[in-house]
Amino acid sequence: MASPSEPGEGPAGSPKQDNLGIDKNMPDQNSLVTLDYNNMLSPRLGGEQGIDPARLAELAERFREVHADVERRREAGELGFYSLPYQTDVVDEIESFANGVGQAFENVVVLGIGGSALGTIALRTALLNPYWNELDNEGRDFFPRLYVLDNVDPWTIHAFLDRIDLRRTLFNVVSKSGGTAETMSQYLIVRERLEAELGDGYRGHFLFTTDPAKGVLRQLSETERIGTLPIPPNVGGRFSVLSAVGLLPAALVGIPIRELLEGARLMDERCRTDDLLSNPAGLFAALQYLADTERGAPIHVMMPYSDRLRDVADWFRQLWAESLGKERTRAGEEVFVGPTPVKSLGATDQHSQVQLYVEGPFDKTITFLVERDSGVDVQIPSIPLYAEVGELGYLGGHSLGGLLHAEMTATEAALAQRGRMNMTLEIPRVDARSVGALLFLLEVATVYAGGLYGVDPLDQPGVELGKQLTYGLMGRKGYEERREEMERTEQKSDEWVVR
Ligand code: PA5
Repeated sequence: MASPSEPGEGPAGSPKQDNLGIDKNMPDQNSLVTLDYNNMLSPRLGGEQGIDPARLAELAERFREVHADVERRREAGELGFYSLPYQTDVVDEIESFANGVGQAFENVVVLGIGGSALGTIALRTALLNPYWNELDNEGRDFFPRLYVLDNVDPWTIHAFLDRIDLRRTLFNVVSKSGGTAETMSQYLIVRERLEAELGDGYRGHFLFTTDPAKGVLRQLSETERIGTLPIPPNVGGRFSVLSAVGLLPAALVGIPIRELLEGARLMDERCRTDDLLSNPAGLFAALQYLADTERGAPIHVMMPYSDRLRDVADWFRQLWAESLGKERTRAGEEVFVGPTPVKSLGATDQHSQVQLYVEGPFDKTITFLVERDSGVDVQIPSIPLYAEVGELGYLGGHSLGGLLHAEMTATEAALAQRGRMNMTLEIPRVDARSVGALLFLLEVATVYAGGLYGVDPLDQPGVELGKQLTYGLMGRKGYEERREEMERTEQKSDEWVVR
C-alpha cells in the first residue's frame, strides 16, 4: 500500500521546484534539520540589534550545566519523552491494532485536548493529503478518515455527530489524567449515542489512550472491557506526540510511525553533545532565551512557509507556552517568566502580520520553518496575451514553489535589513523521518530552555488551577472549596460594562 506521506505526483510535465537561481542548498544535505541563525546575530543586523556572538559563546558554559542537568533527569527517568523513540513493544501493539481491527473502521475520531490532540493534528496536517477526509476510500488507500475533536463547542460537536456514521467509527479517547472535563464530556455524549445504536457493541468502538495505572479511563477500561494503550507515567501531554497518543492515530491512517521514531532517534543523537554550538536544540533554546532575557524580544513567532507545517507551529505554541510560562523557578523563587509563542503562516500572513514584524517594536524573533523540496510543484503558465502586462508577465514561467520560496527569502531579508532577529529551521522534505526529527528537536529545546530560565518545563500549575475551578463550578465532588472560591470572587461591576 502506498504510504500517505509520499507526496503525490505533480501535474504532468511539471518541473522540480523553481528556485529563481537562488542556491537553496544548505551545507549539510544529509541533515534532517538545519538551523540557520545568521540573522539572529548582531553582525548581520547592523550591530545595534541582535545577539552578540560573544554572548552566545559565554552562554556555552552555562549550557553545559543545563545539559548535564537534563541528562541527569533523563537518566533518573523524569524526562520520559526521551525514551519514546526507542520503544518497541508499544509500537508493535499499535501496528497490530492499526493494521488489524483498526482498518475495519471508515472513520477514526480522536477525543482529546491540548497535548492529547495537538500532536496528532500536526502529524495529520504534515503527513496526509490536505483533503484526506474528503477523498473516497480508494483515494485514501482504504485507510480511515481522521478527525480530532479538541473542543467542546456545541456548534461543532452537534454538527459532527449529526453527520458521522457511528457504526463505522472508532473513537480514540485520549487523556493522560482521565479527568479532563472537555474530553470526559465528549466521551459521555458519544458513549450514550453508541450504546443507543449498537447496544453492547459500543465497546468495540472505543479505544482509550491513558495512564497505565491511574485515572478513570483506566478503571473503565477494566470494568467495561475496553481496549487501551498506555501513556508512560513520566510523559506529559505536550511531550506525548511520539507515544501512543500520536502514534496510534498516525498508524491508523498509514503514516509510517517507525520512520517518525527513526527521525527522533537521529535527532536525539545529535543533541547528546553539550557543545552548544553543535547542538541544534541547544542553540534554538539559547538564542530564544537570550533574545527574550537580554534583547527585549519575548515574542517568539514560528512562521512555516509550508501549509503542511502550519500545525507544527500550533503544536509548538503549546509546548513553548505551557512549559516555560511560569510563576516560580524550580527552587521556588517568584520570577514570572516565559516567552509568548505566536504562530504565523507564510505567505498568507505577509498580508496580515509582516508589517508589524518589520516595522513594529523590536520585541520578536521570527523562526521560519521550511522544507527544501516539497516534491510537488505547480507551474505558472506564460500566457502570450499577458506577456507585457506588468503584474502578470513576470510570473509566467516560474512556479508556485518558486514564488513561495522567493517570498520567504524576501521576508527574511526585509526583516534582517530592519534589524529584526530571525532564523530558519529547514527540513529536506516533509516526510515522517524529518517531521520526527523536527518535533524531537523542539521538545529537547523546550527542556533546555526550561533549564536556562530555571523553571520546570514539565508542570502546568496555572492550567491545573483553571481545571479545578471548572470542576468546582460544574459541581464535581471534592471541589466544593473551589466552588466557594468562585462564589466569593467579587461580582463584576455593571459600571464597567458597556452595552
Ligand atoms: O500538556 C499537557 O499536560 C496538557 O496540555 C494536557 O495535555 C491537557 O490538559 C489534556 O490533559 P489530559 O491528557 O490529562 O486529558
